Amino acid sequence: MKILTIIGARPQFIKAATVSRLLHGNKYSEIDEIIVHTGQHYDHNMSQSFFNELNMPAPDYNLEVGSGTHGQQTGAIMSSLEKVVELENPDWMLVYGDTNSTLAAALVAAKKPCQLAHVEAGLRSYRRGMPEEVNRIVTDRLSDLLFCPTILAKKNLITEGRNNNVFVTGDVMYDSFLYYNKEINHASVMHKYNLLSSKYLLVTIHRAENTDDKKSLSNIISALRYIARKVEVVFPMHPRTKKMVNEFSLSLEGIKVIDPVPYLTMISLLSNAKAVVTDSGGLQKEAYFAKKICLTIRDETEWIETLENGWNHLVSTCDEFDIVDNLNKALEIDNSNFKYKHYYGSGNAASIIIDALISPV
Ligand code: UD1
Repeated sequence: MKILTIIGARPQFIKAATVSRLLHGNKYSEIDEIIVHTGQHYDHNMSQSFFNELNMPAPDYNLEVGSGTHGQQTGAIMSSLEKVVELENPDWMLVYGDTNSTLAAALVAAKKPCQLAHVEAGLRSYRRGMPEEVNRIVTDRLSDLLFCPTILAKKNLITEGRNNNVFVTGDVMYDSFLYYNKEINHASVMHKYNLLSSKYLLVTIHRAENTDDKKSLSNIISALRYIARKVEVVFPMHPRTKKMVNEFSLSLEGIKVIDPVPYLTMISLLSNAKAVVTDSGGLQKEAYFAKKICLTIRDETEWIETLENGWNHLVSTCDEFDIVDNLNKALEIDNSNFKYKHYYGSGNAASIIIDALISPV
């Protein structure tokens, strides 16, 4: 059996890492995995550093599409990927998440045609203006096999009338979290960034709706600057965010801005943080895995389970003082009271996925 794995953006490297590790091990030696990197993310610290650290096999193809508008990026991936699919003639195309790379690959698979399997199926924000929501809906509709990380994600698909070949697998990011956590030297990360455990807020902001709107980004940054007077604020900054902060001439005074960090460093920064502030779907969930209070700077989340008991809290960007208020409250919460529930499986999502690909029904 030949599987063509298509990845291109930072979180997809983390998601694919556990599945690829198993596919390249002895147990599944009858499966040939061909990895295609679309090139959506290309900076060393957004791409290659993940392959190095997660011990991922180097991509067999790099389409090197780079940045562009949604149409340019999606079209460029489709046009190059089509040739790879013709050459490789895979049994399955395996896609992850909800990026433009996911969408482009789903469209190519549907038109070849080639069987398509979607990891992280069934998630919905129910906000159509969000690029990722469009990518998810289309990818799910075109997929032959749907791998849902949670029961709720499966319910979403059933509500949309899809209930055949839908599997609840658990979350591949939880697999990665458990597996790679063992390899982290926390003391060395704290030393490198000159941080004290539990004494800082970890922040990531990169969603277009937050970064590309001046009022939203300025409210977020002002609130962070205010809270930085009380607690250290560590902000590994996505290139998109950096670009917009410069464009809007926003001051970052008092905030410890660092370059995007590799996965193990991120998990360490998270595990030692007092609380997390983010608009990332992945980090919200990883905060839950790490049993940390999280403020999600968005009006909605696809990871509804994390909201239970307030461990993840949604905060709108409309009001800077509301963000500060919620940050202050988050700092008061004692993480040791966290009651973890296994919404995201037990760390074996990757093997469930591969077994289903081998014998889908
Ligand atoms: C993409 C995904 C988003 C995912 C995120 C993870 C889509 C629609 N969005 O958003 O779902 O959560 O990846 O990070 O696919 N840039 C660089 N270097 C890079 C990559 C990007 O400088 O290596 C800059 C460019 O200015 C680029 C901008 O970041 O235009 C945005 O990159 P893009 O890949 O379009 O979207 P992300 O915001 O990263």
